[in-house]
Amino acid sequence: MFINKINKYFVLCVIFNIILLSLVYNLDNYNLKISNPILYNHTIQLNKSIEWKYILIWTDHKEPFKPFLRDGIIQFRNKSCSFANCYVSSNRQLLKDVADFDVVLFYGTGLKNIKASFLPQSRSPRQKYVFASMESPAYYPICNYMFNSYFNWTWTYKLNSDEISTYICIKDQYGNVIGPKEEMHWKNVESMMPINDSLKAKLSTKKIAAAWFVSNCNVPSGRDLIAKQLQFELAKYNMTVDIYGKCGTMKCPSDSMEECLRKLETDYYFFLAFENSLTEDYVTEKLLHALQHYTVPVVYGGANYTRFMPDGIYLIAQQSQIRELAEEMVDAINYRQRYYDFFKWHNHYSYHNRRESRDTDTYCKLCALINNQEKYAKTSIYENFIKWWNPENEFCFNYFYNLKKFVHLI
Ligand SMILES: *[C@@H]1O[C@H](CO)[C@@H](O)[C@H](O)[C@H]1NC(C)=O
Ligand SMILES: *[C@@H]1O[C@H](CO)[C@@H](O)[C@H](O)[C@H]1NC(C)=O
Ligand SMILES: *[C@@H]1O[C@H](CO)[C@@H](O)[C@H](O)[C@H]1NC(C)=O
Ligand SMILES: *[C@@H]1O[C@H](CO)[C@@H](O)[C@H](O)[C@H]1NC(C)=O
Ligand SMILES: *[C@@H]1O[C@H](CO)[C@@H](O)[C@H](O)[C@H]1NC(C)=O
Ligand SMILES: *[C@@H]1O[C@H](CO)[C@@H](O)[C@H](O)[C@H]1NC(C)=O
Ligand SMILES: *[C@@H]1O[C@H](CO)[C@@H](O)[C@H](O)[C@H]1NC(C)=O
Repeated sequence: MFINKINKYFVLCVIFNIILLSLVYNLDNYNLKISNPILYNHTIQLNKSIEWKYILIWTDHKEPFKPFLRDGIIQFRNKSCSFANCYVSSNRQLLKDVADFDVVLFYGTGLKNIKASFLPQSRSPRQKYVFASMESPAYYPICNYMFNSYFNWTWTYKLNSDEISTYICIKDQYGNVIGPKEEMHWKNVESMMPINDSLKAKLSTKKIAAAWFVSNCNVPSGRDLIAKQLQFELAKYNMTVDIYGKCGTMKCPSDSMEECLRKLETDYYFFLAFENSLTEDYVTEKLLHALQHYTVPVVYGGANYTRFMPDGIYLIAQQSQIRELAEEMVDAINYRQRYYDFFKWHNHYSYHNRRESRDTDTYCKLCALINNQEKYAKTSIYENFIKWWNPENEFCFNYFYNLKKFVHLI
């Protein structure tokens, strides 16, 4: 009986000790975890002789943002970036303090309705806060004045960002990257060399006026009305606009995009590169589809397109002039020489996806920027960020904007 009791105490004591030890052990582990990122995740072996640059992704990772940075170093390694010492994490506890990260990255998509209490509570004047967005302010306006004098750098499709994150890359005939940028110096289309016979042969298989690839039908720019109107005008000439995707009758599943693009190349004269919102510099990969696949872009967007293409190699869709646009398209289809002239740029320039090469890849460029000691150390503040992101103010002050229009009517 007595021995039994001792045994019970002994067992309890052992159990208590085990619990205590495991707690201490855990505590110790926890300390290591927050003070040393290398130990936080034992499967990651960061080379200690490399000076890592830590990027914290603050806003929700699940927000739609393309192309988004993944945790780790894979996107820099994968591209063989000249600077591949950037380490991306969305774990706010990776380092001791949020202020220890070299860069804190905020996706515009996650800031729309964010409250001040959900922003970092400690900040070092040394680190850079970076605003990143591939989406336009028409969908993701930033209107809260707390974001003025908040960001140090921008990484967006806008051409006056610190690092641009667009898909498009323009090279001259020698392979030098020349754009897009705000001030382009193009060769005049008149002075460009005429296209050669092999390119003429390539264009000879085309038979349908235009194609449009689209997945969202009712968007702020009103592009669907323009497309429908163009369809109507071209029908008068017995010519068609094939609409692929949810808003049309043709299908192009995302897994057969390559096939659709090949079809674009062989069958279609024009490609509608219509943007979902009319904001400055907002030009998406649609333009690349047109130019890389031997179709003439018909653009509809808020950009000044001379920043992206020489005048004369594309057509512009304007709300009030769809009939004239249809006439121009029909003319070019019927008079071969006129159509060929749209392709003279091939002798002088080429269009690429920035991700094709490590010299233009937007991730490589971001990591290189962070490694640029001079730029990193220089104080830079977007004092009037709200205005920078949203120059017309129309997306923030919609209410007043509409009221003004209303007052104007009466
Ligand atoms: C640790 O890193 C590996 C490789 O990046 C990843 O697959 C794994 O999910 C990470 N584990 C934790 C707990 O973060
Ligand atoms: C760590 O980085 C140094 C300097 O870049 C390099 O010489 C060394 O080979 C790397 N070690 C490992 C294990 O990758
Ligand atoms: C880079 O990523 C792509 C797509 O995920 C993959 O196909 C390719 O093999 C990767 N390259 C390297 C060098 O890891
Ligand atoms: C329109 O095109 C179709 C197919 O190419 C043809 O059969 C038809 O006769 C044309 N109609 C007119 C009015 O030209
Ligand atoms: C577009 O940019 C060019 C060159 O920078 C400029 O000359 C032209 O005035 C701009 N067009 C508009 C409509 O702003
Ligand atoms: C024809 O012109 C294209 C575009 O400039 C060029 O890529 C191609 O090599 C030329 N072909 C011949 C046979 O000269
Ligand atoms: C970043 O911006 C903050 C807030 O305006 C400013 O206090 C800080 O000096 C800036 N730091 C750098 C490195 O640009």
